[in-house]
Amino acid sequence: MIMEKNAIKRVAILTSGGDAPGMNSSIRAIVKAARWKGLEPYLVYEGYKGLVEGDIRPASDIEVDRYINQGGTFIYSARFPEFKEEKVRLKAKEQLDKKQIQALIVIGGDGSYHGAQLLHTIGIKTIGLPGTIDNDISSSDYTIGFFTALESIVSNIDRIRDTARSHHRCILVEVMGRYAGDLAVYSGIATGAELIITAENKMAIEDIVKVVDHQMNKLKKDSVIIIVTEHVYENLKEIAQKIQTETNVDTRESILGHLQRGGTPTGMERYVAAQMSTYAIELLCDGQSGLAIGLVNNKLQALPILEALAQPRPKYIELINKYAKINQEK
Ligand code: ADP
Ligand code: F6P
Repeated sequence: MIMEKNAIKRVAILTSGGDAPGMNSSIRAIVKAARWKGLEPYLVYEGYKGLVEGDIRPASDIEVDRYINQGGTFIYSARFPEFKEEKVRLKAKEQLDKKQIQALIVIGGDGSYHGAQLLHTIGIKTIGLPGTIDNDISSSDYTIGFFTALESIVSNIDRIRDTARSHHRCILVEVMGRYAGDLAVYSGIATGAELIITAENKMAIEDIVKVVDHQMNKLKKDSVIIIVTEHVYENLKEIAQKIQTETNVDTRESILGHLQRGGTPTGMERYVAAQMSTYAIELLCDGQSGLAIGLVNNKLQALPILEALAQPRPKYIELINKYAKINQEK
């Protein structure tokens, strides 16, 4: 058994899928924890693509220290659909074997987790860390990237409120999240948005019109902010025009886009990234593999990746409805 525990000498790290602030903090924490445990850390450049191509280099402590507070991922990320093919994954294993690397930590979203699980089944010791701004990995209360994206959205919505207020406007703000409403719900509550719309509560346009009419024409509020998760409506501009025609309230749409993905990771982001990353190394040194790490009720936990992927998504509908009622004051 002790043999098994000491089997790992080298560990590689890669980032995959959409980049997220805090990925660099996580890479740094893994490298530090690996050295602490007597392992040699390696960096894989460009996600699974770089793994297959063998772009794997020894990590430098001085370099990783430099990136602790920078957004994005300095080892780059990639979307590489070819990794779904078995022969391509076998090539990745060959590259790791060639460098005598026994373990791999993958920082990414659910797609990246699938890749990590498949590598685990062919004998690479793998651990998944949740890295995405979307917060759509249900095995963790929070993903690396979510806190910073939330801060960026909140500060931008505050700016949008300033201008909306100055012109008595309604502004529809589209936020990212892929199909998850987390960014919309958290930012909507934090900014006092009059309406939050996600895939869970897609509203008919007539109902949105009624809310805007009530807020602006009856309550005489000076502005209305409506936060909408991307992909819920096809054409926000059309909805804005309809609201304007029906209510006579000047209405605009604003799509926040990729500004939500960049920026300096917040303190909480770095703290959570460091905790999860150190735990990943501890698990590997304990002989574990095929696990996904999460933070649940403020405690680190590790679940088999397949189990982690099967966790149900949290439901926000009651929260959304409660805040809609609170904001729709009489
Ligand atoms: P995320 O990890 O953020 O969900 P993607 O869904 O784009 O982002 O997945 C990232 C990468 O993970 C993909 O480009 C691909 O290389 C790999 N991947 C995704 N799904 C699978 C799968 N079913 N099997 C193997 N690899 C996968
Ligand atoms: O998964 C992160 C994310 O930013 C999603 O919120 C968004 O839907 C998607 O990536 C955008 O991806 P891309 O930058 O490849 O267009």
